[in-house]
Amino acid sequence: MSALLDGIARKALFTFDPEVAHGLSIAALKSGLVPGCRNDTDPRLAVELAGLEFPNPLGMAAGYDKNAEVAGPLARLGFGFVEVGTVTPRPQDGNPKPRIFRLPGDRAVINRLGFNNRGHEAARVNLSTGARSGVLGVNIGANKDAEDRIGDYVAGIGAFAKVADYFTVNVSSPNTPGLRNLQSRVALAELLGRVLSERAARAPGTPVFLKIAPDLSDADLDDIAEECLSHPLDGLIVSNTTLSRAGLTETRASSESGGLSGRPLFSRSTIVLAKMRQRLGAAMPLIGVGGIDSAETAAEKIRAGADLVQLYTGFIYGGPMLPSRILSGLSRICDDEQIARIGELRDSRTAHYASLPSGA
Ligand code: FNR
Repeated sequence: MSALLDGIARKALFTFDPEVAHGLSIAALKSGLVPGCRNDTDPRLAVELAGLEFPNPLGMAAGYDKNAEVAGPLARLGFGFVEVGTVTPRPQDGNPKPRIFRLPGDRAVINRLGFNNRGHEAARVNLSTGARSGVLGVNIGANKDAEDRIGDYVAGIGAFAKVADYFTVNVSSPNTPGLRNLQSRVALAELLGRVLSERAARAPGTPVFLKIAPDLSDADLDDIAEECLSHPLDGLIVSNTTLSRAGLTETRASSESGGLSGRPLFSRSTIVLAKMRQRLGAAMPLIGVGGIDSAETAAEKIRAGADLVQLYTGFIYGGPMLPSRILSGLSRICDDEQIARIGELRDSRTAHYASLPSGA
């Protein structure tokens, strides 16, 4: 796709309500209207992590492909891995519309979708029938009205055991009341215990990652790290959206409730990432997400401690050629720094970011 065409398509999408535009972009990917962008692979960008081989370190974060409709087309845009979901056992509508707000001046988005999705069965069917390429993660969650929320995560493991390359246990959405309480020590211990024993029974060998919020105090991070290390968890995704509105210049949509993502989340999420790298040690797989919209921001997450990175909001503003641009930029960084593997950047700035105060 030419840069011009890409720019025109994106301008047109921005004339629609954000949720309508999202639906149109999914439809375009599904229909094949958006051609693939990149088929050459730079071996220096490959990452082996948690027993999986990633062709490059850039993934699509959860929330874009909630019903697992376009994992294949997203991989063809260049993403080395795609995380679908969050999927809950039963279909649910989510919160009343409007519930996604653009803040273009800040290159940010506020959303309060509330896990709108068509449920396990629909996503499982899509994944079983659709073409597969790249690494596929399934992000699992709990229905808003679940009597046993942890039971919903356990059900997610069984439902996707045959199709997921990895699972993400999402306890950090701010849009399901009380969900983030599962990050507290006692609840997290029970959650990890039950989910990981289900994994051992139903999906042995499939990695399970935990996705956390950026709005956690140092003491919270200590607790989470201890629980992560005392269970056979395979890694951590840092982070989900923030409740903070710090640093926004746009006033129009900034008072909307929900989780903020995009550029203003970069430093907050990167600080938590670095603090977790320090707490969890060099061997724990970490995926950095929040505010990545360029090769430089992707590389900086890796320098702060990430093995892999993901983005979502950057894709809204950067368009379908963004993954390809980021991958070319990462290759150039490998040239400039004369490194044989992108992973060699990891941790060079962990101490710096970890020394900064977390936002919570
Ligand atoms: C999200 N995100 C998200 N995360 C998750 O684990 N499950 C989900 O269902 C969603 N849904 C969702 C919807 C929308 C509209 C947005 C913008 C985001 C969070 C997302 O995966 C990511 O963690 C944050 O958005 C931070 O990354 P970016 O967007 O700054 O690159």
